[in-house]
Amino acid sequence: LLIALLLCALGYLSGSVLYAPLICRLLNAPPPHLYGSRNPGATNVYRIAGPGPALLTLIADALKGWLPITLAQMLDASPTTQAAVGLFAIAGHMLPVFSDFQGGKGVATTLGAGLALAATTIMITALIWLLLFRHFRVASLASVISAVAAPLVSLWFNPEQFALFVILMLVLLVRHRDNLVRLKQGREHLF
Ligand code: G3P
Repeated sequence: LLIALLLCALGYLSGSVLYAPLICRLLNAPPPHLYGSRNPGATNVYRIAGPGPALLTLIADALKGWLPITLAQMLDASPTTQAAVGLFAIAGHMLPVFSDFQGGKGVATTLGAGLALAATTIMITALIWLLLFRHFRVASLASVISAVAAPLVSLWFNPEQFALFVILMLVLLVRHRDNLVRLKQGREHLF
């Protein structure tokens, strides 16, 4: 149990490092919380600094979900512990202890955690995200539909993770509530 608690704490601390503001600062670009959607995530880094820095943010924010779970897997942690570590990493990104608990929406960190826990489901869901994004050109719309699709996809490919994907769907929908309001009013930020 001590190892499980330590892994969850590590997941939370790992998730708490927000890469969007770090990458923007390194590039002398405006900080994400003052620009665009004000969200510290890859989509908003794209608006501020373009595709390269956005991709870097996406990979770094995904790795901070993937790495602590992979460590838990190397230590033979139980599936429940692995899922808890992922949830703590995502919670860290959303409520980061290093940034006054003002975090992001958790899509990239969910991607990384999902890759470690249910690779097939997450790859199919990522494909759904890309197709939706190509069609609508609105990142948040692609994210909310993908969040709803993921539990259904998991029923087929990773049924053992169905409950986890339902929790993630609910959390992601709550974190996108401002986006949902803007989408409904037809004034959501384009990519
Ligand atoms: O992953 C975040 C995306 O779904 C929305 O980002 O910056 O448009 O609020 P943003």
